[in-house]
Amino acid sequence: MAKSHVTTTINGDPVEFLCESQQTLLDVLRDELHLTGSKEGCASGDCGACSVTMDGRLVCSCLVLGVEVEGRSIETIEGMADGENLHPLQQKFLEHAALQCGICTPGILIAAKSLLEKNPDPTETEIRYWLAGNLCRYTGYDKRVRAVQYAAPEMRGA
Ligand code: FES
Ligand code: FES
Repeated sequence: MAKSHVTTTINGDPVEFLCESQQTLLDVLRDELHLTGSKEGCASGDCGACSVTMDGRLVCSCLVLGVEVEGRSIETIEGMADGENLHPLQQKFLEHAALQCGICTPGILIAAKSLLEKNPDPTETEIRYWLAGNLCRYTGYDKRVRAVQYAAPEMRGA
């Protein structure tokens, strides 16, 4: 089958790749570009483990086709830290042990960053609703909510 040539931006860098029409963005990230931080939990839009942003909008990369990202700007977990410096959310997740096996963690971090960029001072309820689409098989929900609460003032510079 003929492959499509796609030109896009990933974590601020121009990227080109070839993909088949049925390949999802998650397939492309993991299998073609070797950006394996985004995880596949369900491949059906239910778990949030594959979360990335596309033009600033939180999406499940398992529900986006690779060909759909032509001309778009994608951000993945690989772009979250600034070199050796962890993003405040990553730092707080570490400090508060807000992860166990780590499969859900990249998607939660991307989703939490998306929340705090839109709503820098969310209530606990708003955090819980926003992250409701990010499932964790170890049910580590309270710690991740606390980590987001601790990261929020740091991101606001408070
Ligand atoms: S792998 Fe995409 S939502 Fe579960
Ligand atoms: S820490 Fe493993 S699925 Fe959430």
